[in-house]
Amino acid sequence: MVQLIAIVDRDWSIAKNNAIPWSFPEDLAFFRQKTDGSVIIMGRKTFFSLSEHPLPGRKNIVLSKTCPDIPGAEVFPTLEQALSQYSDAWIIGGAMLYNYTLRQRYVDALYITYVRQAYDGDLFLNASYLSDFSFYLLHATRQADFLLGLRC
Ligand SMILES: NC(=O)c1ccc[n+]([C@@H]2O[C@H](COP(=O)([O-])OP(=O)(O)OC[C@H]3O[C@@H](n4cnc5c(N)ncnc54)[C@H](OP(=O)(O)O)[C@@H]3O)[C@@H](O)[C@H]2O)c1
Repeated sequence: MVQLIAIVDRDWSIAKNNAIPWSFPEDLAFFRQKTDGSVIIMGRKTFFSLSEHPLPGRKNIVLSKTCPDIPGAEVFPTLEQALSQYSDAWIIGGAMLYNYTLRQRYVDALYITYVRQAYDGDLFLNASYLSDFSFYLLHATRQADFLLGLRC
């Protein structure tokens, strides 16, 4: 099963200046709880935005055609090669990988933390790819809705 997890702002932005311009401890805890012990797949830029350290307690897969060796991570040149080896995985970003995975319809379920404020971001999850999903509110806080999307 391929699952995607992301936090977006009101405009579906996921980042600004190559970083996430907000920090919500509840969302970080939710991300940790969902992905702990699992395989996580990320783009090269996301990996290097994490201070170049793999996320502990998870199998870190990085997609890259330009960086074949990354300490602490297994690198694949394509998502298809990664998924042929790890069919049960979480797609954890960034924008290029999210949008590719959704466009190819590889995602079975997605967890979106939808922040109600706008942060003037410069990278976006393309919400037009979400029309085949039904969304359910898992819980809400003062700042964000935690949504589960299941393919219809
Ligand atoms: N809000 C959130 O939930 C969230 C989550 C994660 C990351 N982010 C943010 O997202 C930003 C990075 O996103 P980004 O779109 O610039 O970059 P990205 O998707 O993290 O990485 C892009 C790079 O990854 C490789 N790649 C991506 N998709 C691939 C595919 N389908 N097949 C093969 N290789 C692929 C390529 O590497 P090569 O060029 O080496 O081939 C590509 O240049 C960071 O600012 C990060 O903080 C936000």
